[in-house]
Amino acid sequence: MCCPTLFGLEGIVADELRFGGGLTTVRAENGRVLFEGDERTLAWANLNLRCAERVLIRLGSFPAASFDALFEGVRALPWEQFIPADGAFPVKGHCLDAALHSVPDCQKIIKKAVAARLGEQYHQSWLEETGAKYQIQFAIMRDTAELYLDTTGAGLHKRGYRANSNAAPLRETLAAAMVKLARWRGREPLIDPFCGSGTIAIEAAMIAQRRAPGLLRAFEAEKWACIAPSVWQQAREAALANVDTDTAADIVGSDIDPACVQLSAENARKAGVASAIRFEQADALERDYSDPGVLFANPPYGERLLDVQTAEKLYAGLGQALAASPRKQYILSSDPLFERCFGRKADKRRKLYNGMLKCELHMYFKHSPRRSAKTDRDSLSGFTKNS
Ligand SMILES: C[S@@+](CC[C@H](N)C(=O)[O-])C[C@H]1O[C@@H](n2cnc3c(N)ncnc32)[C@H](O)[C@@H]1O
Repeated sequence: MCCPTLFGLEGIVADELRFGGGLTTVRAENGRVLFEGDERTLAWANLNLRCAERVLIRLGSFPAASFDALFEGVRALPWEQFIPADGAFPVKGHCLDAALHSVPDCQKIIKKAVAARLGEQYHQSWLEETGAKYQIQFAIMRDTAELYLDTTGAGLHKRGYRANSNAAPLRETLAAAMVKLARWRGREPLIDPFCGSGTIAIEAAMIAQRRAPGLLRAFEAEKWACIAPSVWQQAREAALANVDTDTAADIVGSDIDPACVQLSAENARKAGVASAIRFEQADALERDYSDPGVLFANPPYGERLLDVQTAEKLYAGLGQALAASPRKQYILSSDPLFERCFGRKADKRRKLYNGMLKCELHMYFKHSPRRSAKTDRDSLSGFTKNS
């Protein structure tokens, strides 16, 4: 199987599979994680993975430098093990650095090859495709084709609690990854002072309560005849039994915009974690951060909200508000000058992608309030617009 991930999250998803799923054959690669398992693994992964984008069954991989090779390679795969006589099997995918570079042509060839195979197996010259959907995905890279079946449907970031969002929401899988990168498990107080639609606080509450992110939604492969309904039922029951609502996590989300506060509260209610989070209206620059704990922030970048200059002024104000705070701070921004504006060099950085937008998670966990602002200013003095 294969889980595509946002770039930068491969290692976290591999850990989720190893430590959450108890899997041993797990391999993280660029933008994806490969692993082995059966239908129970598939159901578990869809329901429980917080940071993967979807769960695919990898049917095979073969050299495909010509349309003939692509057709024969696809026809040789055991599609009938998954797709029944009435199954609908749309095809989508991409080609990169390959002799076969036309996606529509490859789609047509793959569709024909799968239809030929299924027609032979089911002794039918015409396939109705009126049943459940078996989305075929392909990737042709450097003349090697890989063929998958998508078991997830709508991406795993669609948890089912955020029908509504503010203008620049964070992808749920990325919000969960920020919390995981900080190794926060519910014991320290947590605040997100730029909560928007509440994603970070809600994902954190779900982590604290060990609430599987997929419990509120359905998956495409739940309609598949090749997976017994009991497999899904057992996976859902196990995930439900794992929820621990007694955890006394202290989670606060705040935003300057009252509409965002209301939206966050509504989303938390839909996610089933309303009682675990306090949402309030507040200016992030005027909050008191003197208590220990963790702070997560996804302030405006100057891309979708605010202009760059206003965003950078905000970072400077935030830097001042947090200068003496004992809190560990994890701040996501796409602005290359973030640290200079904020006034402190991060203890560690991690490149992450919010959709197509390249960002950096600036991590401050060694910060001592006694460290003078001057030391930080000095260490940042080499920064220029071009550095
Ligand atoms: C990029 S969005 C956060 C998105 C959020 N992570 C989510 O998933 O929906 C930035 C948020 O910061 C808020 N904001 C801007 N200036 C603020 C300030 N001074 N204090 C608090 N919130 C502010 C905006 O209203 C907006 O909701």
